[in-house]
Amino acid sequence: MLIKIAPSILSADFSKLGEEVLRIERAGADLVHVDVMDGHFVPNITIGPPVVKSLKKVSKLPFDVHLMIENPDMYIESFADAGADIISVHAEACCHLHRTIQKIKLLGKKAAVALNPATSLCAVEWVLDDVDMVLLMSVNPGFGGQKYISGVTRKIEELKKIIDNRGLDIDIEVDGGIDTTNIHSVTKAGANVIVSGSTIFAAEDTAKIIQELKINSYS
Ligand code: DX5
Ligand code: ZN
Repeated sequence: MLIKIAPSILSADFSKLGEEVLRIERAGADLVHVDVMDGHFVPNITIGPPVVKSLKKVSKLPFDVHLMIENPDMYIESFADAGADIISVHAEACCHLHRTIQKIKLLGKKAAVALNPATSLCAVEWVLDDVDMVLLMSVNPGFGGQKYISGVTRKIEELKKIIDNRGLDIDIEVDGGIDTTNIHSVTKAGANVIVSGSTIFAAEDTAKIIQELKINSYS
């Protein structure tokens, strides 16, 4: 399976975000992962639709917008208009998850559901037919640079089994604490979209680190 690398711009230099996005695009990134935080669903505040709209102008990469916000329904349209290509909402933040997914799809965007590390896969079971991707958090959301929670590997395996048994074609994205040493366990378990923030942006050579992540993901 083709592995995609989605650098999280949460760890980028916010004083020059446009250049940072260009840097990851030139270095071989497959997606731009945008972490949107509201200070309520998670204890941190980041960026909103105007920033996505500006960054869209500098890069042709698909924008993978991860909404860590309460009441995502209120903002989905703004992010879609701003240029998000994939919109992930947290199951924990949606009372009517099926409706929210339909809303994203009606706007012509790919819909994904994100699960916190402690949330059971049951939370997505009844919407699997409707989503393009499931995002499994491998840290508690809110901050970059945290340690991968090892128990999530078994959760990826379980989800992969469910998806395959049902004959579905759904991406599995994993987000948090992934580096060159543990990426293989994540992809071997069944994930094909890998978010990586601090590892990529802390590296001296961006192209080299992305290539290393890709190579290590296969062996
Ligand atoms: C956590 C964010 C992640 C995070 C990934 O709330 O959703 O995208 O920034 O960064 P690293 O790779 O540093 O864990
Ligand atoms: Zn994220």
